[in-house]
Amino acid sequence: MGNHHTKTMAEQGRKLLAWYDVHARDLPWRVREQEPYKVWLSEIMLQQTTVAAVKDYYIKFITKWPKVEALAAAPLDDVLKAWAGLGYYARARNLHACAQLVAGQGGVFPRNVAGLMELPGIGPYTAAAIAAIAYDLPVAAVDGNVERVISRFYAIEQPLPLSKPRIKELAQALVPEKRAGDFAQALMDLGATICTPKSPACGNCPWADECAARAKGLASVLPYRFAKKKVPIRYGHVYWIENGKGSVLVRQRLMKGLLAGMAEFPSSDWLERAEDFVPPLSLKWKRVVGIVEHTFTHFHLELVVWRSQKKTPVLNGRFVAFAELQHEALPSLMRKVAAHALKSIKAK
Ligand code: ADE
Repeated sequence: MGNHHTKTMAEQGRKLLAWYDVHARDLPWRVREQEPYKVWLSEIMLQQTTVAAVKDYYIKFITKWPKVEALAAAPLDDVLKAWAGLGYYARARNLHACAQLVAGQGGVFPRNVAGLMELPGIGPYTAAAIAAIAYDLPVAAVDGNVERVISRFYAIEQPLPLSKPRIKELAQALVPEKRAGDFAQALMDLGATICTPKSPACGNCPWADECAARAKGLASVLPYRFAKKKVPIRYGHVYWIENGKGSVLVRQRLMKGLLAGMAEFPSSDWLERAEDFVPPLSLKWKRVVGIVEHTFTHFHLELVVWRSQKKTPVLNGRFVAFAELQHEALPSLMRKVAAHALKSIKAK
């Protein structure tokens, strides 16, 4: 790489930092003195989720468990409960396992990417984000947003995921010696607020003049991607069993598979074709009008909810008052089921 190129890269980095100094989003984990624990927690929460979904959870966790030792000492069940609604529960388990490992090492997170990557739940992106934000190490943290920004800035027409290694190299070359953490977050903010997937606000972009995609009229179409495989649909039935006194039966899922150990309303298996409803108990069942839909990573789920109003303590589980459901470790899917059932109950 020639001298001229290096100089322009530094200039590019400075422009972005100057923009960030004015336009950085005000987020609860962005504080002057970064604590690795808080950076780590926020980055784990932000995996595959939006900033808006994470904010309140982050504040809840930091208030309940202000240090990694406190989180490590908490029962896993409490952590899962606090996580309920954020989705991808393997992340909460890994979070807890990671906290215990780190607490066992004097509460100190490794100060390098390789060491961070050995911890549970930390992949290349998260390791780089923590290294940059917590320790200001000059590494690029490349997630989907950053891939989009870099693809456009360099007008990379090779489709994702083939272009990933090249994007990573180009992103790394842009990282400034100083303020690597701010640079990482500036790129994230640029991707989230200006260089958005569908209609990028190029008029407000600090990189518009040098952006190759903009020059070619490709800003709103890049990056290209190979067509995604369509996710299969699965179907199932949920049994909403009331006790006649405003409570509904909740039980714990088995400790394996999807949503392991989380609370649920009893339900059938989720199958690739819709099966007829087979009542699990001889009660009077009424179908709740409509369906509940939820998309997991590898499939889309459609559930029909069946309601019975007369008590039965036959299935194991416990009855929870409607108003108390919000305090249960119910995953998003089951929260949707509850909202769906309660809406139809209140409509009566
Ligand atoms: N997405 C992932 N990490 C983030 C961060 N630190 N700030 C904003 N968005 C993010």
